[in-house]
Amino acid sequence: MEFAELSVGDQKLKLAVVTGSEQERAIDIRELRAKAGLITLDSGYGNTGACQSSITYIDGEKGILNYRGYSIEDLANHATFVETSYLLIYGHLPTAAELADFRTLLIRNSLLHEDMLHFYDGYPSTAHPMAILSSMICSLSSYYPDSLDPGDPAQVERLIPRVLSKIRTIAAFAYKKSIGQPVIYPDNSLDYCSNFLNMMFAVPSEKYIIDPDVVKAVNTLLILHADHEQNCSTSTVRLVGSSDANLFASIAAGICALWGPKHGGANQKVVEMLQKIDDEGLDIKEVVRMAKDKNSSFRLMGFGHRVYRNYDPRARVIKEVSDKLLAKLNRSDPLLDIAKELEEHALSDDYFIERKLYPNVDFYSGITYRAIGIPLDMFTVMFAIGRIPGWIAHWKEMHLDGDGRIGRPRQVYTGARKRSFTAIEQR
Ligand code: CMC
Repeated sequence: MEFAELSVGDQKLKLAVVTGSEQERAIDIRELRAKAGLITLDSGYGNTGACQSSITYIDGEKGILNYRGYSIEDLANHATFVETSYLLIYGHLPTAAELADFRTLLIRNSLLHEDMLHFYDGYPSTAHPMAILSSMICSLSSYYPDSLDPGDPAQVERLIPRVLSKIRTIAAFAYKKSIGQPVIYPDNSLDYCSNFLNMMFAVPSEKYIIDPDVVKAVNTLLILHADHEQNCSTSTVRLVGSSDANLFASIAAGICALWGPKHGGANQKVVEMLQKIDDEGLDIKEVVRMAKDKNSSFRLMGFGHRVYRNYDPRARVIKEVSDKLLAKLNRSDPLLDIAKELEEHALSDDYFIERKLYPNVDFYSGITYRAIGIPLDMFTVMFAIGRIPGWIAHWKEMHLDGDGRIGRPRQVYTGARKRSFTAIEQR
């Protein structure tokens, strides 16, 4: 076993070095406070490993992303989203029989309790679907009170297909309600992605023809979003879950974390940014200059990543999907041309080169969603649907393999030292 030595004053401490299966190394500081009275300070957790996990591997320098050892490119080319979900949650690619059983469970769980439909009437038509999604997912816990114990594997197994299947229905119903159309119930003769597209775009008055290329594109997008190890939303799911909150509540919290524009909300912001450039005829060089200006809060949305110091491998796959889909649909999109021009300028600019800022997954995903007809405020919802298997896998892993301790970071207090209370008349 390898050790690291830490000396503070005349104190010397031997700390074990833990090595992962891809030779990543970490110093185990679990005994640091007990032995030395010290904690570590790492705002943004950029150097902190919160757990050991066997779900997803990322090499940010080389631009590698693998789920359970399988490359994202292989999965995007050969697997469906449902197969990938099974892989993430259960650790292996399903056999034909396992996949058929899993599909049956998803089919059986596609409907919402009818009472939940009334919830939608309480939201204004302008409500952001992420607000609806998080509260509806949390509300599911009130319909399954007998399956909420995280410590009972049988109960957890019952909840997995429920959340994975119902999120599609909740999302599509939210969209239908926002545009004043009747909801379209799930059609269990359809596969996972076709069923979602049908609920989104079919109307009772005419037949909706599902384009297999669009289904393929949705499958790919959901696979690419399915997990990304300890990002903000997944860490949130783990942290909330560590208090033994139920799966629905933990995932609802993850949805809220994902909503932010620095995380999953970036896909909406990217298209808003490209639209603004187009509408106002902004010069690309000026946009890049603004993104570099430290006096401006403007950032190039869809650029940069905490982990990737290289092209985000998901962005590469999405760019290809987007090109193919637009060609097949015989459609051009001025925003795609702007995106490509912006990428070219940024990638040859010293500011972006020095900081290793490359396009991330969100840079091209919005263009693809637009081509499919997904409305702007549903982009982050699509990210959330895709991320469900990852959140489930992490929540489950934490309960099965973790040490059962509640997540609870420390802090370095910098406030006032002890003072005496001053009565209001003397203040
Ligand atoms: N535009 C301009 N400058 C940037 C950008 C950007 N998009 N991203 C980072 N920088 C600069 C930043 O100002 C800093 O410069 P300096 O060293 O001079 O202070 C340097 O690059 C390092 O940035 P950071 O903020 O320390 O990096 P971070 O790891 O804390 O943040 C990030 C990562 C994704 C939040 C950030 O890059 C960002 O805000 N990007 C735009 C939003 C976005 O596209 N988010 C989607 C992320 S991918 C999907 C997901 O997983 O959620």
